[in-house]
Amino acid sequence: MQLESDDVPWVSEPPGGVMKSTREWAAAYPECAAEEWQTPFLPIRNWQVDRILPWAALTADDVVCDLGFGDGSFLIRASSVIGCQCTGVEINGDLVERAKANAASMGSSVSSLIDLQEGSFQQFMSSESFAKATVIFVHLVPGVLQKMAEQLDDRIATGVRVISQGYEIPGLCSRKTSELAYNCDDERDPTTDEALAKFMGHAFLYSQ
Ligand SMILES: C[S@@+](CC[C@H](N)C(=O)[O-])C[C@H]1O[C@@H](n2cnc3c(N)ncnc32)[C@H](O)[C@@H]1O
Repeated sequence: MQLESDDVPWVSEPPGGVMKSTREWAAAYPECAAEEWQTPFLPIRNWQVDRILPWAALTADDVVCDLGFGDGSFLIRASSVIGCQCTGVEINGDLVERAKANAASMGSSVSSLIDLQEGSFQQFMSSESFAKATVIFVHLVPGVLQKMAEQLDDRIATGVRVISQGYEIPGLCSRKTSELAYNCDDERDPTTDEALAKFMGHAFLYSQ
């Protein structure tokens, strides 16, 4: 699936700074070096996570996984607010270090709950850590979501909930059980441009 840059306003460069490109890191992980496997870094905001947690009914008994955790924003907020165990994978080594530092800054009661692994989600999705997750969070572009849809569907069939921030997961509409529309105008950073706000304005929940 070929994405138009208009579909993903942050595809060339994330707002507010230049991250080492996903493409560069993907070179170290041949299984995701193809263009269509790549998603750039854009962190979810805490106000969004605070909406998602009750909407998706996360509890301290959940094990939450973020495929491409970036700077750890979602996992760190989830573990500190809910007290759930968290795991995930991120391909960009700089972001992994940043996420570990962010988790450590929250103290051991939070950081001890979070297992942050460097690697590709293609590898991670065959790991034991992934198999233990009861909630999978994805904040990725449609082309990537489409490629992982079958594996996500297999997990949903076992009772796992999948949360997709930003985009619906192609091919999983029969599993979609809820849609969250944020009130971006009230809560988004006023510097966020309209195209980005539109993308960030929804989350989708998939379950049995
Ligand atoms: C839109 S960001 C989301 C970050 C985080 N989940 C959040 O919501 O704050 C997507 C992340 O996926 C990572 N990523 C892209 N391709 C990946 C791959 N094949 N394996 C693991 N991580 C990947 C990127 O480096 C980026 O940090």
